[in-house]
Amino acid sequence: MTTRSPWALEYARRPDEYVLGTAPSAFARMLRSLLVPGARVLELGCGEGRDSVFFASSGCDVTAVDVSAAGLRKAERLARRAGVEVRWVQSDAARYLPKDQFDFVYSCGAIHYVPRRLRAGLLARVKAATSPIGVHAHLVFTDRTIYVEQNERIDYFTAGELGRVYADWRVWWNGHGTITCDRDGRPHLHSVEELIARQPEA
Ligand SMILES: C[S@@+](CC[C@H](N)C(=O)[O-])C[C@H]1O[C@@H](n2cnc3c(N)ncnc32)[C@H](O)[C@@H]1O
Repeated sequence: MTTRSPWALEYARRPDEYVLGTAPSAFARMLRSLLVPGARVLELGCGEGRDSVFFASSGCDVTAVDVSAAGLRKAERLARRAGVEVRWVQSDAARYLPKDQFDFVYSCGAIHYVPRRLRAGLLARVKAATSPIGVHAHLVFTDRTIYVEQNERIDYFTAGELGRVYADWRVWWNGHGTITCDRDGRPHLHSVEELIARQPEA
């Protein structure tokens, strides 16, 4: 396993709670209008499922990958409650080999846990598994404001790193910012980068 994420332990420690909530993230809500019903969505690092269930509830055909069995159990419960189907895959995203084609590949706060030396391979694989009209959207932690939570070890994205991966695509949006967080009981900030890119021929 290549992840350095503390989240699997956190999900297992709190099996009856949704540590990250059940409402979709602001990033997922922002992207909703890009998705048509039936769009084939792949989420990397879906956690307890809040965004995958949101995409499925919007009519998308969703495959969601996470390393954490405890997270996926909660995600399944959330999908059942919402009355939607999602293909849940317990796998290390760094080793995941997509068998299908996707129209939309999405990650929110997850792929920075994949060590830098493996990230290029992961993103190259999912780019290759994207339909000609496909879009990718990622929100990652960057090294501008570092707050280490729960002893996590992260290869923070550096300036321009994500943009370089998508240099051969059309980048629609590439923004930097900070998000507030208090998951460890102390209010703090994380610097983030968001990127939305589409296939060049789309
Ligand atoms: C901060 S949580 C975000 C979860 C979800 N995207 C959300 O916003 O609710 C990060 C997630 O990435 C997952 N993760 C970390 N490394 C991973 C890897 N190598 N493969 C698959 N999932 C991974 C963790 O298990 C965790 O669920």
